[in-house]
Amino acid sequence: VKESIVKLLESHIRNVPDFPKTGIQFKDITPLLKNPDTLELTSQVLARPFRHSNIDHVIGLESRGFLFGTNLAQDLHAGFVPIRKPDKLPAEVISSSYELEYGTDTIEMHADALSEGDRVIIHDDLIATGGSAKAATELVEKLGAVVVGYSFIIELAALQGKDILKPDTDIDILVSI
Ligand code: PRP
Ligand code: MG
Repeated sequence: VKESIVKLLESHIRNVPDFPKTGIQFKDITPLLKNPDTLELTSQVLARPFRHSNIDHVIGLESRGFLFGTNLAQDLHAGFVPIRKPDKLPAEVISSSYELEYGTDTIEMHADALSEGDRVIIHDDLIATGGSAKAATELVEKLGAVVVGYSFIIELAALQGKDILKPDTDIDILVSI
């Protein structure tokens, strides 16, 4: 992606200090969504690397992964599959848990969301530790589908979250902070 485009997108990501807790620098994408030009540009730039990858489904992670996820799916002529926080999905689910600094978190996907051999990408607004994207990978693989790549708007590079994702996949990141 052109450096000028990345700069423009990055300038629409707002840093909010001490949210939700003291010491956390929250990366807020609402300015990116609010501006019609950056909204359109972000969608276009997210889709580009996967145009010829024959993606069947984009997997979006609740909740901020929903914002661009369905749009990305449409652009790739793929379907959209939500991964949600516990007890939100109505039908039969499969779940995956992952470690946090203190305690664990669980995410869920419908048990009939994917079929064996489906080619998918996992999308979220941001990768920090990589824990949620890794747990999403496990859900996809439980159903016999194939993670072809990952798509994130923002990477918190210092946390090296990419290192725990599935190897030999396309990991696309727009802005590395
Ligand atoms: C944030 C972010 C990613 C995740 C990244 O979501 O939107 O989903 O954390 O962290 P990780 O790489 O360490 O797993 P959050 O849990 O704040 O929920 P939200 O998207 O519903 O706001
Ligand atoms: Mg999230």
